Amino acid sequence: MNLTLKVWRQNGNKEKGRMETYQVSDISPDSSFLEMMDILNEQLIEEGKEPVAFDHDCREGICGMCSMYINGEAHGPGDRITTCQLHMREFNDGDTIHIEPWRAKAFPVIKDLVVDRGAFDRIMAAGGFVSVNTSGNTQDANAIPIDKNDADKAFDAATCIGCGACVATCKNASAMLFVSAKVSQFALLPQGQVEARERAVNMVNKMDEEGFGNCTNTGACEVECPKGISLENIARMNREYLKGSIS
Ligand code: SF4
Ligand code: FES
Repeated sequence: MNLTLKVWRQNGNKEKGRMETYQVSDISPDSSFLEMMDILNEQLIEEGKEPVAFDHDCREGICGMCSMYINGEAHGPGDRITTCQLHMREFNDGDTIHIEPWRAKAFPVIKDLVVDRGAFDRIMAAGGFVSVNTSGNTQDANAIPIDKNDADKAFDAATCIGCGACVATCKNASAMLFVSAKVSQFALLPQGQVEARERAVNMVNKMDEEGFGNCTNTGACEVECPKGISLENIARMNREYLKGSIS
């Protein structure tokens, strides 16, 4: 496949970015999108140009690092996949592909396609944890019976990989889907009850402080989420927030 790539290039948050145009040829339809980016970078290095900076790690849909906005879609075309799981067979020979970073005030561009998602870590530090009594008489977690429905819902919420596609997709750059998944994975389990009163309030307040926008129920986050995190979690988080605010 021969392709024209329009790639966002930017030297940090203080500088203005721009689209640069590159041609790549003889790309196998079976190569992954990130392998295609590797080929582009090898080509740029051979030409004495600076390679495109982009995030990646596991390359199997687990780590949530590969954050690219491809042809106006977070993680590009295809349902329930991350950028590293996207293959070039989804495109046609001769296509022009636009590649941009996540765009959100709370995710400042570090370089080219790499953004700083440290705000997610700070939200987790504000409440995304459980405390365990290690005084010597700790109860074995496996000995606590949990309703199968709750266990399944908690597991589904815990599959959020923190990629940030929900924020990038949302017209308000809201992080509600991410935060609600993290609140829900604890709210549904007995182990999460120790901090239950403060968790949602602390995490939501941190989310606002970090500059994410408000949720206006458009649902784009759920559509683009590679893990299919449900909007039901946002409703649960709002209930947890209310309970925490009045207790
Ligand atoms: S909710 Fe989905 S889109 Fe948002 S960070 Fe988690 S996995 Fe990514
Ligand atoms: S590189 Fe890990 S999810 Fe894509």
